[in-house]
Amino acid sequence: MEITVKSGNVLREASDLGVLAAFEDSALPDEAAGLLEPDDFRGRAGQAVVLYPRGAVAPRRLLLIGLGQRDKVTAESVRRAAAEAVRRARELQVAALSIGAVDDLPLDDAAVGQAFAEGLALGAYRYWKYRTGLTTEQTFAVERATVYSGDERAADMAAGVATGQAVARGVALARDLVNSPGYAMTPARMGEEALALGERLGLKVTVLDKAQLTEQGFGGILAVGQGSANDPRFIVMEHGAPGDGPTICLVGKGLTFDSGGLSIKPAEAMDTMKSDMGGAAAVFGAMQVAAELKLPLHVVGLVSSAENMPSATAYRPGDVVTTLSGKTIEVLNTDAEGRIILSDALHYAQRYEPAAIVELSTLTGAIVIALGSHATGLMATDQALADRVSQAGEISGERVWQLPLWQEYHDMIKSEIADLKNIGGRAGGSITAGAFLAAFVGDYPFVHLDIAGTAWADRPAKPYEVQGGTGVGVRLLTEFLRGYSY
Ligand code: BES
Ligand code: MN
Ligand code: ZN
Repeated sequence: MEITVKSGNVLREASDLGVLAAFEDSALPDEAAGLLEPDDFRGRAGQAVVLYPRGAVAPRRLLLIGLGQRDKVTAESVRRAAAEAVRRARELQVAALSIGAVDDLPLDDAAVGQAFAEGLALGAYRYWKYRTGLTTEQTFAVERATVYSGDERAADMAAGVATGQAVARGVALARDLVNSPGYAMTPARMGEEALALGERLGLKVTVLDKAQLTEQGFGGILAVGQGSANDPRFIVMEHGAPGDGPTICLVGKGLTFDSGGLSIKPAEAMDTMKSDMGGAAAVFGAMQVAAELKLPLHVVGLVSSAENMPSATAYRPGDVVTTLSGKTIEVLNTDAEGRIILSDALHYAQRYEPAAIVELSTLTGAIVIALGSHATGLMATDQALADRVSQAGEISGERVWQLPLWQEYHDMIKSEIADLKNIGGRAGGSITAGAFLAAFVGDYPFVHLDIAGTAWADRPAKPYEVQGGTGVGVRLLTEFLRGYSY
C-alpha cells in the first residue's frame, strides 16, 4: 500500500472515503457533528460509523472511528483504528482512503505516523497463495492511503510512516513464512529464504547443511532432525559488523513441523505445528527491518531449523545428546525438541560476545495455559535487559509478561545420567524450559520469549490480524533494537 502524509483536513480534502478518528471525550467538528444523531457515535474504542454526507463535507463517504478516551490513547489505539479503516474500505470497495484524527493525539508525531502505517498495511494483509476461485470483490485491495497531519507535523509523521511501513513489511514476511505449509517451508527452504534475504538487503548470510553441522558438532540440531527426510540447517544472518555499535544476537526456533517425534502429539495438537518456526520467522522479519532502517547496530540472526518426525531414524526417549557446547542432554520426551535445537544456537551466539541475546520460540503449551494469546512469556538472566524488552513490548503493542528463573527451577532439569534432562515435569513447564535454555548462554545477558500463545491466531483477535501466523516478535524486536541504537 502506498501511504503519503499531508498537512490538511480530511473533511475538506478527502474525496472517496474520509476517515476521522475521534476521542470519546472531545467533540466532533461541527460540519461532521451535524451529520448524525449525537448519541449514535460516542468515540468508544473500536466503534465505527459510516456516513453519506451528500456534499455537506468533501468526502463522499465519511467513516468515524472511535479511539476511546484521549488520556488512554496509545499507539495501539491508532494501529487498531487504522486497520479498522482499511477493513471498512475493503468492504466498501474503495481503493483510496484519507485518514486523520479530530485532535492532536497524545503521542509524538513519529509514533503516530508509525502506528497509522502499521495499522493500514497490516490491516490489508491476506494470505491467499493457496486459494483459488476468489472473486474480484474478495481480492479487492486498498491501494493508497493519505494520512493527514496538523501543520508542521508532516515531516515527523512521514518519517514515522516510513518506519511503520518497513515494520509492516517485516511482519508480513514473518506471517508468510509461518503460513506456508510444512512441506513448502522445510529447513532447506528456510536456508534459501535467508540467502535471498541477504541478497536483497546486503546481509551476510551463511547456511550450514547437515554435513557441516556434523563436522562442527551441532549435536542438538542433528538429533532432532535425524528422523526427517528433510535435513536440518543452521542459519546465520548478519546486519552490520562488530564496530557498528553494540552486538545483539537474535535467536529463533525454526521447527518447520513439529509432530512431537516418537513422543507423538495427538492430532488436535499437531494441526497447527507448521507454525513451530514462528520464532525463526520473527528473526527473519526483524533482520529485514534492521537492514531497511539501516540501524546503527551489529545484529546477528541465528536460526536452528529442523523437522521433528517419528521414523526408524528418529531420536528416542532415553537417548543422550552431546550438544555443540559439549553439554549433554538426556532426552525424556522427543516433543520437548525446541530447547534441544536452541541449545546449539545459544551456545553459538557466545562467539559474538554480544551485549544481549534475545531468543524467540514457540516453546511450551504451558505458556498458552498461563498467559493465553494476549502476552508473550519472558524469562531473563539480566533484569536490565528484561526491562528493555518489556518496555519495547508496551510501545510496540506486543506485550510480554515476565516469569522468574530461580535456582529451584534450574534444579528441576538436572539429570542423573547427563548434564540436563529435557523435561522437568508439567509443573512450571514454561519456566523449566527457560531455565534449560539459560544453561547455554554463559554469562551473556539473555532474554527468552515464549511465543507459543502469540505466534498463531486461531481467529483474528485484533483488526490488524487475520487467522494464521501473526508475525509476533517483529514489532517487539524492532522497537527493542531501535531503543538500543539511541
Ligand atoms: N512446539 C511445541 C509447543 C507449542 C504448543 C507451540 C502449542 C505452540 C502451541 C513444543 O515443541 C512442545 O511440544 N512442547 C511440549 C513440551 C513438553 C513435552 C515438555 C509441550 O508444551 O507440551
Ligand atoms: Mn514439540
Ligand atoms: Zn516444538
